[in-house]
This record gives sequence, C-alpha cells and structure tokens, in this order.
Amino acid sequence: MTRRNRTTTLILTFYCAGFLLAAIGLAVAASGDDAVARRSGDPALHEAWAARVVWACDRRKLVIVEGVRPDEPIPPQRAQLVADLLQDLMRYCNEEITARLGVDQRITVSARGLVHEDYLPGGPLPIVPASYGEPTRRERLIWAAALEKLVTEGDRLFHSDEIGSNGIACAMCHPHASGTHPETYPKFQTQLKKVALLRDMVNWCILNPLEGEELAADDPRMMALEAYILAQRNGKVIEVGKH
Ligand code: HEC
Repeated sequence: MTRRNRTTTLILTFYCAGFLLAAIGLAVAASGDDAVARRSGDPALHEAWAARVVWACDRRKLVIVEGVRPDEPIPPQRAQLVADLLQDLMRYCNEEITARLGVDQRITVSARGLVHEDYLPGGPLPIVPASYGEPTRRERLIWAAALEKLVTEGDRLFHSDEIGSNGIACAMCHPHASGTHPETYPKFQTQLKKVALLRDMVNWCILNPLEGEELAADDPRMMALEAYILAQRNGKVIEVGKH
C-alpha cells in the first residue's frame, strides 16, 4: 500500500467511525423516550398527539382525553373522570393500557392488542388484576431489609461527627432522637420565621451547633437522618403544627 493510499484509508476509517458513533448516539437518545417509543406502534397514540394525554404514575397506562388540546387544562369534572379511570386501570399492575375518553364521555380501552368499547370503570377486561395489598412474604422481607438499611445508616450518621465539622454529633443532644418531634411537622418555627419541614430543622442543627454544610432534600444522608428520626418515633400520632 502506498503512503498516500494508507492516508486515504485512515481518513475513511475515521469518517466511518464518526458516522457509527453518531448513529449509536441517536439510537441511545431515541431509546430514552421510554414508554412513548415502546408504544409508538399503538395507533391510538399516534392520533393522540392532537388531544391531551394523561399518564398514570407507572407510565404504562394512559388516557387520551378527546376534545382537549395538549396544552389545555382538562375541565374539573372530566379531570376527575380521568383520575378515576387511571386509578381503576392501576388494578392491572404492569400492563400497558391505553384508554380513550370521548367527547361524549364514552370510554374505549385497548389492552393486549384488543379493543373494548363502552368500557365501564371497574368492568371486566381480559386481564387478571394484580393482587395489590397482598405482598408476598419474600416481598415483605426485601422491603423491610431495604428500609432497615436506610435507618441503620441514619442511626450511624446521627451518632457520628461526619455531618458536622467540630466533633459534635446529633445524638449528643438528642439521644435516641429525643426532642426531635418529627410527628409535629410541618409547623411554624419561630427560629426560621416560616413553616418548616423536618428537614429544615435537621439543616438548622447541622449549621449550628454542628458547623456543617446544609444537606439537599434528596441527599442520601438527609434521607437516612429523616428515616432514623421517624423510625424512632414510630407509632406516634401525627400532630401537625403542635408546639
Ligand atoms: C448542642 C445540642 C444539639 C445538637 C448537637 C443538635 N441539636 Fe437539634 N436541637 C437542639 C435544640 C436546642 C433545638 C431546639 C428545640 C426547640 O426549639 O424546640 C433542636 C431542634 C431540633 C429539631 C426540631 C425539634 C422540634 O421540637 O421541633 C430537630 C428535628 C433536630 N433538632 C434535629 C437535629 C439533628 C438531625 C441534629 C444533628 C445533625 C441535631 N439536631 C443536633 C439542640 C441540638
């Protein structure tokens, strides 16, 4: 191979690699549009873009609200109907279900490739409902272990000086989380001159006396501290605002 040929081959290889990377990038970006992309084969969804679409919390069930533009709020009575319908469809745990609420309030449901017209909430669909409310023993054990892990980490942080900078720990003033009163939040805190959440008071004590840095609400350390404090007061009656 001549030197010139080799250079051309090299340049071509770089071009090809570039195209390949761009293609992979596009494919990854497209797959990010999770549920919508997975269900783009659903003809109801295609037509839906002209109407308002409301997804259930699991992003697997959706209601197409006909007669309402995508940028328009749903009037209260129909919004309640949409909420009721989504709640109803949540009986079918992991199923992907598309419901269409007509302008005449008639409901059409597509599930497992079958279309059911004039569906009445609570009515039958050829799907076995999930056994909500009856977790298996194994599920209970897994959930309890996950919670226990968070509470244990909170216990550790509550007794350690690593949240602050001066060697003081929460437990030195609040042994077993005493005096933290999580069951009284939210409440007006005179120190903060506003209605505070439990985490605001955790941060208040982190700043002083611990001389540490405030934690964000979703900081795993804040979550652990809150979990520990609440677990210590388990069974207490909630008394929002109590002083
Ligand atoms: C030097 C002692 C001290 C330390 C250490 C301390 N606190 Fe406090 N904490 C207080 C005092 C004093 C109050 C104010 C009590 C009040 O005004 O009701 C308070 C209030 C609170 C409250 C609100 C209590 C209520 O009755 O509403 C929470 C929650 C709290 N602390 C959590 C923590 C956490 C979490 C830590 C560790 C990051 C911590 N505290 C460290 C002394 C301390």
